[in-house]
Amino acid sequence: MISVDLSKAGNRNSDPCGEPLLLFQSDRHAVYHIGTAEDSAFRSNCYLLTDGSESLLIHPRGIYEFSFLYHQLNTILSKEPVTGLVISGADADNSALTEWLKNYPGCRLFTTPFIHLMLTSCGKEEYTFHDVREEDRFLFTSGRSLKFIPAPFLPSPAAFACYDETSGFLFSGDIWAAMDMDWHLVVDDFHDHEMKMNLFHIDHMASNISARGFLNRIGDLKITAILPHHGSILPKPFVNEAMDYLRRLKCGTDLFYPDIKQF
Ligand SMILES: [Fe+2]
Repeated sequence: MISVDLSKAGNRNSDPCGEPLLLFQSDRHAVYHIGTAEDSAFRSNCYLLTDGSESLLIHPRGIYEFSFLYHQLNTILSKEPVTGLVISGADADNSALTEWLKNYPGCRLFTTPFIHLMLTSCGKEEYTFHDVREEDRFLFTSGRSLKFIPAPFLPSPAAFACYDETSGFLFSGDIWAAMDMDWHLVVDDFHDHEMKMNLFHIDHMASNISARGFLNRIGDLKITAILPHHGSILPKPFVNEAMDYLRRLKCGTDLFYPDIKQF
C-alpha cells in the first residue's frame, strides 16, 4: 500500500493545473486529485477513484473545464473509459453531463432521484442510474466497496457524501467546503481554515440540525481524510476538529430565524 503523506502532497498549491496527484494507492485501488484550471475563491476539486479497470469520477465539473479534465484523465487512464460519475449535488457543474456521456458512453451515474430528475435540464442522455438512496453501497468487481451517505440540506436537499472503505477517504460534497484566494490542497492550520469554511457554511448550510444529523450518520466510519468538493482536503489530524466544527456550527435558519424555538 502506498500511503501518501497528505501534508506533503506534491506542489499542487503552486501548480493546480499540473499532473493529477496520487493521494492513495493500495494494490489496484487508487485515488487522485485531478487538478483544476479555475482560479477562484470557491475552487472546485475533482477526484478520480480507480479500482482495477473501473474508475469513478467524483464531481465531474462543468463545461468550462471539460477539456482540461478530459486531458488530465487520459494521463492516468490512457484512453480507458471512466465507468462512473458521482454527482452529489444539484450544481452548475452538472452542465457538462452530455459531454461526459458522449465521451464515456455506458458510464453509470451515481446520484439521488432528485438530482437525476434535475439533470433533464442539462440535456440528459440515456445512462444507467445508480440510485444512492435505494442502494447505499457499490461493490467494485474486486469486492471493494463504496458507501453513500445522505446529507440532506447540506446544502441541497438531495446532497450525499461518499465513503471509500479502502482508503478511509470521505468525499464530503459541499460539507467542509471552504472559500479562499490563497488556496492550498491540504489544510495545515485548522484554526485559520475554520474562517474559510465559515464563509461558505454560515449562509449556505440549512441548520445545525442538518449538520448534526449528518454527523450521526458517519459516527461509525474510520475516516482517514475528508475530501470536499470545494476548498482543501482535511487530513487525519484534523478529522476530529472538523467533526467538532460541524457539531458547533450555527448556520442558515439558526441565524435567520433565531426567535423561532424548536418544538
Ligand atoms: Fe459543490
